[in-house]
Amino acid sequence: MNLDHKRPTLLVVDDTETNIDILVEGLESAYDLAVATDGRTALASARENPPDLILLDIMMPEMDGYEVCRRLKKDPNLREIPVIFITAMSQEENEAEGLAVGAVDYITKPISIPIVQARVATHLELFNSRRALKNQNELLEQRVRERTRELRESRLTTITCLGRAAERKDPETGLHIQRMAHYSRILGTGMELDPRVTELLLHAAPMHDIGKVGVPDRILLKPGPLNDEEWVIMRTHPDIGAEILSNQPSELLRIARDIALTHHEKWDGSGYPQGLKGDAIPLSGQIAALADVFDALTSARPYKLAWEVDRAVATIVAAKGIHFQDKIVESFVDVLPEMLTIMEQFREKPHK
Ligand code: C2E
Ligand code: SIN
Ligand code: SIN
Ligand code: FE
Ligand code: FE
Repeated sequence: MNLDHKRPTLLVVDDTETNIDILVEGLESAYDLAVATDGRTALASARENPPDLILLDIMMPEMDGYEVCRRLKKDPNLREIPVIFITAMSQEENEAEGLAVGAVDYITKPISIPIVQARVATHLELFNSRRALKNQNELLEQRVRERTRELRESRLTTITCLGRAAERKDPETGLHIQRMAHYSRILGTGMELDPRVTELLLHAAPMHDIGKVGVPDRILLKPGPLNDEEWVIMRTHPDIGAEILSNQPSELLRIARDIALTHHEKWDGSGYPQGLKGDAIPLSGQIAALADVFDALTSARPYKLAWEVDRAVATIVAAKGIHFQDKIVESFVDVLPEMLTIMEQFREKPHK
């Protein structure tokens, strides 16, 4: 048994015993050798015990060296192994064919052992450095992937905590935030937005009311309608939210900021805080607005009872082209069944 794991293994394939003998004699001091005298045996041996390099005769009965090489290159486990052809044929077209099927080099008979030794050593070295480089690249790519995932996770954690901070002040439970986030994603999907974008909506929408941390509880929790002075304060929450989320380089937080700032704008320009009209309102804000209103209407608030779904739907459909852009209302009607599934899934548990 050979304990020196660093000795490379060569597979020598030739149908002529004397050639095998010459090659074995010339190579056995430096390499572990496996031999085969026909193509099928060579392939079986390579699969059983993949060598580091293959010396392959071309002219063999039944399966010639080209065919052996082609099959090696088709096998994902074997295709990387360097193949050197050894042949009596020295015409150029044969060399071309050998290289075309994937051989790395060509040695012509009669065999010169020093040449064989030199070429084998060169190709093993080349192969090893290529493999080392590839491993290094894979390692680097894996590190980048891990780092990216870590960043993504910590970002989401931060966002979830921010959302929770807002929830603590807000009369609504986290369920409102979750429903509203899922509604936003579903509406976006109904509008055939890119899945990457709808995923961003899902994660950005929970922060829409983060600015309510700046609204006093006596207003947030007031059981009845707000007076003018209270409305002025309530209407500052989009600006406060946008300020909290401003100047962040991440795409997610930019969308979250847009949503926080514009989720109370209306398509006809009658919303707040900026009175933006039509396409001047970011689409993310428009989508979140419909999701927010649908959830507000179908939920109980300190100042209102929950409405029946039909009434909420009718209100939103009647606001088509006024509060909401047509195509978002159309998407809403299309995806309503999925939204109702979310409503069920994130329903407030009745108190005992
Ligand atoms: P919210 O309760 O989440 O409501 C979000 C939006 O849903 C509202 O934005 C409004 O567009 C729509 N909405 C909610 N309830 C009704 C309703 O009964 N009828 C109709 N047609 N639409 C409704 P809005 O009006 O800008 O209000 C923003 C936030 O101000 C509300 O968020 C809530 O936190 C607070 N708010 C609004 N009205 C009152 C109120 O009468 N009393 C108190 N205490 N807070 C209020
Ligand atoms: C909440 O965000 O928790 C409820 C109030 C709102 O959506 O405006
Ligand atoms: C989040 O909190 O980031 C996502 C919200 C959700 O999955 O509903
Ligand atoms: Fe709001
Ligand atoms: Fe809300």
